[in-house]
Amino acid sequence: MTKICCIGAGYVGGPTMAMIAFKAPDITVTVVDMNAARIAAWNSAELPIYEPGLDAVVKACRGRNLFFSTHVKEAIREADLIFVAVNTPTKTYGLGAGRAADLRFIESVARTIAEVAETPKIIIEKSTIPVRTAETIKTILAAGGRALDHQVLSNPEFLAEGTAVADLLAPDRVLIGGERTPAGARAVEALAAVYARWVPRERIITTNLWSAELSKLVANAFLAQRISSINAISALCEATGADIDEVAGAIGRDSRIGPKFLKASVGFGGSCFQKDILNLVYLCETYGCPEVAAYWESVVSINDWQKQRFAQRIVEQLFNTVADKRIAVLGFAFKKDTDDTRESPAISVVRDLLAENARVVIYDPQVPERQIVKDVLGPGSESERLTVAVSAEAAAEGAHALVVVTEWDEFATIDFARILARMQRPAFVFDGRNLLPLEKLRALGFRAFGIGKPAAELAAPVIVSETLEPVLAAV
Ligand code: NAD
Ligand code: UGA
Repeated sequence: MTKICCIGAGYVGGPTMAMIAFKAPDITVTVVDMNAARIAAWNSAELPIYEPGLDAVVKACRGRNLFFSTHVKEAIREADLIFVAVNTPTKTYGLGAGRAADLRFIESVARTIAEVAETPKIIIEKSTIPVRTAETIKTILAAGGRALDHQVLSNPEFLAEGTAVADLLAPDRVLIGGERTPAGARAVEALAAVYARWVPRERIITTNLWSAELSKLVANAFLAQRISSINAISALCEATGADIDEVAGAIGRDSRIGPKFLKASVGFGGSCFQKDILNLVYLCETYGCPEVAAYWESVVSINDWQKQRFAQRIVEQLFNTVADKRIAVLGFAFKKDTDDTRESPAISVVRDLLAENARVVIYDPQVPERQIVKDVLGPGSESERLTVAVSAEAAAEGAHALVVVTEWDEFATIDFARILARMQRPAFVFDGRNLLPLEKLRALGFRAFGIGKPAAELAAPVIVSETLEPVLAAV
């Protein structure tokens, strides 16, 4: 295999192909997209997505064996392996609206391949798709008229944004699903050989096509379920005086539960968790499993509730009104170390505050102002109640409350004493990420609230180790 093409130069196509090109200098990798502006950015000094470490990987191989282009058909014609990494958003219209995956981009790619391919290709589903999508792709290819023996594989991507480069360098596993036929097995091996350049063979798992397709949806559903589970318990912590980080720490020490993905938050965001669970819910309904659908749908409902609950708490604590109060929102991306705002919990929190007539000023280290305004108000709209600041300090100037929505590292090192001096009194902090030292903020004079953290009056007395150690030493 010497030539790879990837259709879709987004958060998955760009970094994934850059890593293959980086690790396999003998393979030519061409990433194509119909979005000319995005391709131009991939070819420029400023990449279209912010991802730590990505610049170095792209710069090491761009122009050598990594190319970005808008010539989709030409790249398809020349490639042996074709990755499909186009977007598969939730359908917004017609049958399955608000739940089913919109597969029109997948279908259009399959039709283009059927139209232009002159030799047999290995076509790889990289996008997250409903189980049995490979069947649709095969049907379209077979109807193309050229009687070429294309193979379709499922190779879902498990990278997380913000850590994409590290995830691609050392994945927990690479999953490849293919047909259980000799030709299918050869295709699986061809793709496995690409990853085997840097991924240990025992981490490359092969399954049948439908298992690989379904495993991706299930992996995201399980991860999101953990967040909704811990977020559900965070409400109980706030009411009882238990501390969610202590509870998560205690249960996470059970090796059967494990410590990861138990960080309580304002709610999960990102382009995939909600979309993929809704996709799973729709599949369950379609395949006659309504109880299973209801079970998974509750993961999304709890997440919606958590976002609303956070905004509601802000209003309640600010004496039941935020009208005309200045609220500084710190962070807008759906998590730290990315500029991606798709389904960010910040959107819902800010909208809820604006609906209460607050004046909201937002600061995010990576998300540009135009993106923030568009996400909150819709394309082309503006509001004097929504502004964007150039720093956390500027956002806090004259504010009644600080609201942390994204866990950017720089928020943990803010000089809160300085900021407090510039805020209205009483000054409030609402930490939607449990990033800040609430006790210290309270000592400074803030009224500080976290997720699943007891309010000051409920907090159990703190026994600090410095006071305990001399006692123990004396025993
Ligand atoms: P994205 O929107 O950033 O990129 C998709 C790209 O595909 C866009 O640039 C679009 O212009 C292009 N495209 C669509 N149809 C095309 C066509 N017919 N021809 C050429 N280009 C076309 O999306 P993304 O975040 O990279 O996600 C892609 C897929 O990967 C989705 O199915 C998603 O669920 C899945 N996924 C995403 C992540 C993630 O972290 N973002 C992780 C794992 C899996
Ligand atoms: C997630 C999965 O982690 C990836 O494996 C998967 O490939 C990807 O979705 C996808 O299919 O798109 P991503 O959404 O990029 O990756 O980022 P995560 O780190 O999973 O975070 C998702 C959301 O959950 C963020 O808003 C994050 O802040 C939140 N989160 C995460 C929590 O609130 N608590 C946690 O403990 C972990």
